[in-house]
Amino acid sequence: RQDAVRALRGRLLWFVGDPHKIGEAAHRYVEDGLLVVEGGLIRAAGEARALLPTLPAATEIIDHRPHLIMPGFIDAHIHMPQTQVIASYGAQLMEWLNKYTFVEEQKLAQQGHAEKLSRFLLDELLSSGTTTAAVYCSVHEKSAEAFFTESHRRNTRMIAGKVMMDRNAPAALTDTAESGYAESKALIGRWHGKGRQLYAITPRFAVTSSPEQMAASQRLVAEHPDCFVQTHINENRAEIAFARELYPDAADYAGIYEDYGLLGRKSLLGHCIHMTKREWRAFAQAGAVAVFCPTSNLFLGSGLFDWERARREGVKVALATDIGGGTSYSMLRTMAEAYKILQLQGQSLSAFEALHAITLGNAVALGLDHLIGSFEAGREADIVVLDPAATLAMAHRLETARDLSEELFVLVTLGDERNVVATYVMGERVELPEA
Ligand code: GUN
Ligand code: ZN
Repeated sequence: RQDAVRALRGRLLWFVGDPHKIGEAAHRYVEDGLLVVEGGLIRAAGEARALLPTLPAATEIIDHRPHLIMPGFIDAHIHMPQTQVIASYGAQLMEWLNKYTFVEEQKLAQQGHAEKLSRFLLDELLSSGTTTAAVYCSVHEKSAEAFFTESHRRNTRMIAGKVMMDRNAPAALTDTAESGYAESKALIGRWHGKGRQLYAITPRFAVTSSPEQMAASQRLVAEHPDCFVQTHINENRAEIAFARELYPDAADYAGIYEDYGLLGRKSLLGHCIHMTKREWRAFAQAGAVAVFCPTSNLFLGSGLFDWERARREGVKVALATDIGGGTSYSMLRTMAEAYKILQLQGQSLSAFEALHAITLGNAVALGLDHLIGSFEAGREADIVVLDPAATLAMAHRLETARDLSEELFVLVTLGDERNVVATYVMGERVELPEA
């Protein structure tokens, strides 16, 4: 029952700040910890020995020792219609979109397909320990309806939106400036703030939206300033050239979104690989979020995201899988690839920084840290339980790990969904499908 008190015992790990800024002071680690949940919210997190005596007599205690208990992971950019596009061979962005993605996305017009993919995606996310994601649906209004319906049924906190695209795509996959506006507006009315669901106004990218559609998006943002905006930018050289050609009067790619009021604190912009100085400045001034999608950027050969530059420019960064350009649903695997991208640029990423990024860091970037991303009292009890020794190779490697940071680095570098023992949504354990 949702209002019951329940407690999880294990090794608690969560963040209260950014380890890149404040080092060791950023995390809380309790070796024999207890996480007390009431009414779906965190009531307390601390030493088991101190908290156990404070619990009501009949409290259910779930013993997860010796596993790690962390806030559920957050994925800041993923495409629901691309679960059967993942692992499509041999193309960079524009060819990949036309040859694979736009073909699969048309299937969401078929009865029941969006429902099937939504169920699959949510199963896969939760199996990977991800409890919140920012999700692109397809152009079809019904795809977003299906996704929100399934997420609401599971009580997961999800951000999603119907894609708007009215050109440079197959006719079956386009809306119009007017229909895209009306359908998005209707979805916002039905879903934004219903239970845990949040809406993202989703013009796919400047290449597939006409100036009229960009203007319609601008109207939506003006009328619904509490909704998110999600789109793509500066991922691939050919994409950038095409976007600039379509909007010759804009200062640069970011300028296109700026001109239509789409660059703000709630704007999540996927990729941001090939950024000019002015674009970084524009992001910083607007408070817009650069979304780093490591496995996708490598798989599509898009380029190397410069996290150090983003930091220097004062731009918020969120981390994401970008399935189906990305190749893993796991935020652990995503961070392992982020580490390699940074290594190629002489930058680094500690295990604490990586685990912060996919929990509190993403929550802060999304402006949701008052709700999710940590174990502070009152936060929603979305939780992942991890076994760092889940595989033979990991157990073997951990024989020589000397401290917590080494153990966590092994978890981030070799870990994935196999390390997920349990996932909780609002304090309720999720039944994960068998592999
Ligand atoms: N740019 C526009 N659409 C997409 C998409 O679906 N995936 C990626 N990676 N980039 C895009
Ligand atoms: Zn994307």
